[in-house]
Amino acid sequence: MSKVPDIKIEPPGPSAREIIEKDSNYVATTTKSLPVVGKRARGLVVEDVDGNMFLDFSSGISVLNVGHCHPKVVEAVRKQSEELMHFAGTDFYYDIQASLAQRLSEVTPGNFHKKVFFSNSGTEAIEAAIKIARWSTGRKRLLAFIGAFHGRTMGSLSLTASKPVQQDRFFPGVPGVTHVPFAYCYRCPYHLEYPSCDLWCAKTIEETYLSTYVPPDEVAALFGEPVQGEGGYVVPPPEFYPTVHRILKRYGILFADDEVQAGLGRTGRMWGIENWGIEPDIMTVSKSLGSGIPIAATVFRKELDFGVEGAHSNTFGGNLVGCAASLATLDIIKEEGLVENSARMGAYFRKRLSELKEKHRLIGDVRGLGLMLAVEFVKDRKTKEYAVKERDEIINASFKSGLILLGCGKSGIRLIPSLNVEREQVDTAVELLDKAIGRVGK
Ligand SMILES: Cc1ncc(COP(=O)(O)O)c(C=O)c1O
Repeated sequence: MSKVPDIKIEPPGPSAREIIEKDSNYVATTTKSLPVVGKRARGLVVEDVDGNMFLDFSSGISVLNVGHCHPKVVEAVRKQSEELMHFAGTDFYYDIQASLAQRLSEVTPGNFHKKVFFSNSGTEAIEAAIKIARWSTGRKRLLAFIGAFHGRTMGSLSLTASKPVQQDRFFPGVPGVTHVPFAYCYRCPYHLEYPSCDLWCAKTIEETYLSTYVPPDEVAALFGEPVQGEGGYVVPPPEFYPTVHRILKRYGILFADDEVQAGLGRTGRMWGIENWGIEPDIMTVSKSLGSGIPIAATVFRKELDFGVEGAHSNTFGGNLVGCAASLATLDIIKEEGLVENSARMGAYFRKRLSELKEKHRLIGDVRGLGLMLAVEFVKDRKTKEYAVKERDEIINASFKSGLILLGCGKSGIRLIPSLNVEREQVDTAVELLDKAIGRVGK
């Protein structure tokens, strides 16, 4: 294969520009980040419609943990599509859905019997988790973290708290949600320092919220991401989640672990929450599960099940093609040792990014677990003023040289290649990022 990236014509080229114009005319406004128009891809290499070859370090927003179009996923999808594509798995039966549910029950934390509700996207998995929590506890209130992202439908949006634009004009959401602080140590909301802070951000959940205006026996669940994703790839210190979990247990509050972005090997463990040694009551999984075929799963303790037909259901959840892609994905992660590679390459990548921090004053923080890594850009290391414009320019300059990146938080860039990324690809990405920061930081 020729060297990648290989930029033949400055992107977006003429074919790309034509499609972008059509898209802008007819497709609703969403969150478009870069003017890249994909044509085909394999592994970490994406070809655009003008023949440019890009190195993809965005993984389709953390969907392609096994890489683009992995041959085993393609084959599983092809085979299943020829046999049976849809058979309403909520109302009728087929083996592949039951098998995937069993498999997810076995590979998720907690040596107890679990059940699975299937849907098609992260936000739907969260909606199901909210309903399961309310249904099973009879309690109405929910807790979520400041900085969280759990989706954009009205239930999940009510838990989301990472950017004002996500909430603007959509108020009111689902009532009964209270947001509590997260352990964003680089920008501690209490201006304390770890570890002398003694984990006040966790303890205050009980000492302030639950003891003043949020009656604990009305709270069904707390929702949390093991590492905050859209909020800026914020990694809490090791004692944070165990401390929070002990508080929840004292009051019979369920813990709903959102693994939509951190799951399936991304953090160097199969599940992000395994970094913190906690067994959640409910887990939400999507993104990488189907390697590009939409599927989501809400995995929960068996005793929380609705147990009543019609309390919750849908049309496409557990679709056969999605289940086939998911089973293939789980096989690939195991067979190719991708969790181990995520830990190994993540450590190497992080070291290389820390070297960039030594070199560029624009970098305020390098953080992450496994291959869930990010760099936060600041105008000044002392004041930590967000370098938003500079961050955007760095993403754009990287793109022009053939590296696809995505932002996160206010002024961060996430670095989330597929988990089978090779050392040379990491080196190439670091080299391109180095040049882009150098150009912008001048
Ligand atoms: C942690 C987390 N939860 C939920 C969602 C929502 O998933 P979707 O965009 O598939 O609805 C996302 C999406 O980025 C996410 O990162």
